[in-house]
Amino acid sequence: MPAPAIIFPADPLHPRRPDPHFAWEARTLRELGGEQYLVDHDALLAGEAEDAVRLVPRDCGPVWYRGWMIPSADYAAFARALADRGANLLTSAPAYTSAHELPGWYGVFEGATPPSVWIPLAPAAGRPGPEQLAAAVARLGGRGPAIVKDYVKSRKDEWDEACYIPELADPAAVGRVVERFVDLQGDFLAGGVVLRRFEEFARIDGTAVVGANGPEGGEPAGGTPAANGSSANGAPKGGVPKDAAPKTGSDGSGESTDPTGGNGRAVEARVWWLDGEPVLVGPHPDAPEQSAEPDLTEVRPLVRALGCRFVTTDLASRADGSGWRVVEVGDGQVSGLPRGIDVTGLLAALLAA
Ligand SMILES: Nc1ncnc2c1ncn2[C@@H]1O[C@H](COP(=O)(O)OP(=O)(O)OP(=O)(O)O)[C@@H](O)[C@H]1O
Ligand SMILES: [Mg+2]
Repeated sequence: MPAPAIIFPADPLHPRRPDPHFAWEARTLRELGGEQYLVDHDALLAGEAEDAVRLVPRDCGPVWYRGWMIPSADYAAFARALADRGANLLTSAPAYTSAHELPGWYGVFEGATPPSVWIPLAPAAGRPGPEQLAAAVARLGGRGPAIVKDYVKSRKDEWDEACYIPELADPAAVGRVVERFVDLQGDFLAGGVVLRRFEEFARIDGTAVVGANGPEGGEPAGGTPAANGSSANGAPKGGVPKDAAPKTGSDGSGESTDPTGGNGRAVEARVWWLDGEPVLVGPHPDAPEQSAEPDLTEVRPLVRALGCRFVTTDLASRADGSGWRVVEVGDGQVSGLPRGIDVTGLLAALLAA
């Protein structure tokens, strides 16, 4: 069997070149002697999958994708359009959904990740009603702090407004944060609304991310630059990699639980797994200068149980040092890489898979 090729999104301005955001990965792939093809990501998300893959040569065999996020339905169309051309996307559509959307991986990782519940919701279908929210809150234990996200992304940059719920027992607060989140996601809401119990993680400034009633005391983290290098990544839409939203949100007040600013970020390591083996352990792209060495003993069997070939796990250290938690799982094809990291080993592993 030939070595897999990698498909990158094309540069919208120069359709025969990879998107500048992925140019360094494409360059490294070339240096390794790997084959690369291009997909028109805009056409894919416009429902024109056949047209989107027109530059992929016929009968080219196995392929990976590395690029912007793709909504699950569009990914399925992408896989079908490639199959019609004789290309075999190595992550199937069901496997993509399993790793990319929280309900797809949650069952396997339950116990190793913050307890979570979800309410399916179509984009622009309104907001969950008070009874639906009350039932979801009850399933989550009824009290304590929580965070809200959709099946794929949070609005962590709008932490106080649209991400962090200080107290689940306060229905008005739950309703307010969820409504704001749903409104801001708009047409880009993926799958539905997820509520997760808030847990305290160690932070880059050496303190705990404290809950609503916990003590403060960290120095502002200051100066942890965002990892994104592209200007096209402003909104949590289907077209951005999982981590490309620019950071805002530091208010410097010293009072926030906001992990993306204020008092400092949660320390997260992103582990890249291929066929159940960790092929790259690095920082989360939001804090590319931050290194962490997570213990993978408990996570490895879970990744294997998930059964997806190429995935990432974001791991955060519990604030009390009692171990590592899985903050989220992602499909490796659409997870963001920290700028400047050496991707040779990762790409070589993909070529050898
Ligand atoms: N249950 C939780 N308890 C405490 N902090 C959390 C929890 N869930 C998320 N966070 C914090 O919020 C941040 C954003 O959450 P999450 O990673 O789930 O969202 P995202 O938008 O998918 O982010 P990413 O950019 O990694 O794709 C996390 O990096 C973490 O610091
Ligand atoms: Mg994350």
